[in-house]
Amino acid sequence: MKMTVVARVLISVLVVVLTARVSMCFRRNVTAEKIMERNFRKTVQLSDKFNCGPPQKRTIYLHEIVGEEVWKTEYMEKIESVHPYSVVLHRCENAGCCEKYNERCKSANETEVTLTFMYIRKSSGSTSTYEYRTHQAKNHTLCECQIISDKQIK
Ligand SMILES: *[C@@H]1O[C@H](CO)[C@@H](O)[C@H](O)[C@H]1NC(C)=O
Ligand SMILES: *[C@@H]1O[C@H](CO)[C@@H](O)[C@H](O)[C@H]1NC(C)=O
Ligand SMILES: *[C@@H]1O[C@H](CO)[C@@H](O)[C@H](O)[C@H]1NC(C)=O
Repeated sequence: MKMTVVARVLISVLVVVLTARVSMCFRRNVTAEKIMERNFRKTVQLSDKFNCGPPQKRTIYLHEIVGEEVWKTEYMEKIESVHPYSVVLHRCENAGCCEKYNERCKSANETEVTLTFMYIRKSSGSTSTYEYRTHQAKNHTLCECQIISDKQIK
């Protein structure tokens, strides 16, 4: 009988100690959590303010329009300079946030624009010659979030 009472007391003491330990482990740092929550809300706001929608202005370089390979083989050696070397067109890439991690802002419609550049040729003499050349470039007119992989995080 006496042994049972002692055992009971011991067990309750053990339970109290264990509970205290467990609650210590799980007690959260409320201050730290509040700071993190506030920062999280700010981050979400940043994302919400800039949704994928209208295409954005981007600087596009002539070598991107012509194509890197063609530019290297056909232009770089023969051309002294070109004007203008970059133009502003509209693009969807990185032009806004999408809801899901496996979506990206992509072009849903685009037009071809005709651009004319002045190429100044390399010359051995004192007079340089120039010519106009026309290139077609894409201009995005509509963006939408498109799935880039099958993986879902939900
Ligand atoms: C709780 O978090 C704050 C901010 O990160 C920190 O300054 C403080 O020392 C933390 N307190 C405990 C008890 O860990
Ligand atoms: C895409 O653009 C073309 C030319 O601007 C337009 O005729 C066509 O209706 C557009 N399509 C969509 C789906 O918006
Ligand atoms: C490109 O498209 C945008 C609309 O997305 C339009 O505002 C802009 O004028 C277009 N640029 C050219 C050079 O056509």
